Amino acid sequence: MKDNNDLRPLGKTEIYISVLGLGAWQWGDRIIWSYGRNYGENDVRQAFEASVAAGINWVDTAEMYGMGQSERLLGRFIAESSAQVIIATKFAPLPWRLSHQSLHRALQSSLRRLQMKAVDLYQIHFPRSPVSIENWAEALAEVVQEGMARAVGVSNFDERQMRRAYSILAKHGIPLASNQVAYSLLNRKVEFNGLLDACRELNVTLIAYSPLAQGVLTGKYTPDRPAPGVRGSMYHRSYLARAQPVIQRLREIGEVHGGKTPAQVALNWVICKGAVAIPGAKNARQAQENAGALGWRLTAEEVAALDEVSNEFSSGRQ
Ligand SMILES: NC(=O)c1ccc[n+]([C@@H]2O[C@H](COP(=O)([O-])OP(=O)(O)OC[C@H]3O[C@@H](n4cnc5c(N)ncnc54)[C@H](OP(=O)(O)O)[C@@H]3O)[C@@H](O)[C@H]2O)c1
Repeated sequence: MKDNNDLRPLGKTEIYISVLGLGAWQWGDRIIWSYGRNYGENDVRQAFEASVAAGINWVDTAEMYGMGQSERLLGRFIAESSAQVIIATKFAPLPWRLSHQSLHRALQSSLRRLQMKAVDLYQIHFPRSPVSIENWAEALAEVVQEGMARAVGVSNFDERQMRRAYSILAKHGIPLASNQVAYSLLNRKVEFNGLLDACRELNVTLIAYSPLAQGVLTGKYTPDRPAPGVRGSMYHRSYLARAQPVIQRLREIGEVHGGKTPAQVALNWVICKGAVAIPGAKNARQAQENAGALGWRLTAEEVAALDEVSNEFSSGRQ
């Protein structure tokens, strides 16, 4: 760890996480990320090792990522490593999962793949489900009480949904540790819909996913060189054209900080907002670069300048 300021408690728990975690959706996912085509197990093992070596002390995965493959790979890497790594995974409340028992069974399967007795953070992946939020929150409380999870969180919950989960858990004396949602310079919804403020008020850690806008904020995708595959249609040419002034500002600010890259400045901006970020990495090079967001901070003026250029990006939305 480069700097103690890079460690924060996870919500009201006693678990200390680095302000950057490592996202592991890429590990095993063929549909969006083309795992197995131009990168594979060795590459993601090196991403894991490089991240841990740089002071990142936690990894975010999910039972859905690569249909269990991400958890399987992570379990293998942890078994091979001597480092203490905090593990966050997720339960998918799929439409046919209707009982508390289904959450218990899913967690047992995750623990088997991860080769662990308990997970550090267990999250409900999304709120849409035939089962109520209250019911799933009760099931989360049970797995904490049974020692299968040290802490629990939610993901993709809006403010109202988060408050519902929070109050059920509070009745059991269990804090809602986190809410994992999309947040980046190109997607600041959480700043305007009350979620970020509610997280601050309740002391729930906001975990920012897609903090690099799935690679766009690295600056490597341009209108002439869009992202490959599915992302090509998500981040079309006009979107990439509108994003260029943001990337240019990231470059300029990075220069002032001794040549920090757009990715490093974009991640630092998320951290300065009080959230923690979990950039995904496919290999050691990406992981090392992203870890370069640790150990320093943007000034308040630089954060404001980035807010301004990002507002211009948003106001140009068609
Ligand atoms: N809870 C949810 O619903 C949810 C949803 C999405 C993500 N997540 C979590 O959040 C994590 C991160 O989000 P994300 O993967 O969507 O997006 P992201 O972190 O914004 O972008 C990751 C992608 O950007 C590229 N990249 C990363 N670092 C780079 C670098 N230094 N230089 C160049 N390219 C780089 C890589 O793809 P290329 O090399 O192919 O460009 C990488 O796969 C996921 O792994 C997952 O754990 C959660």
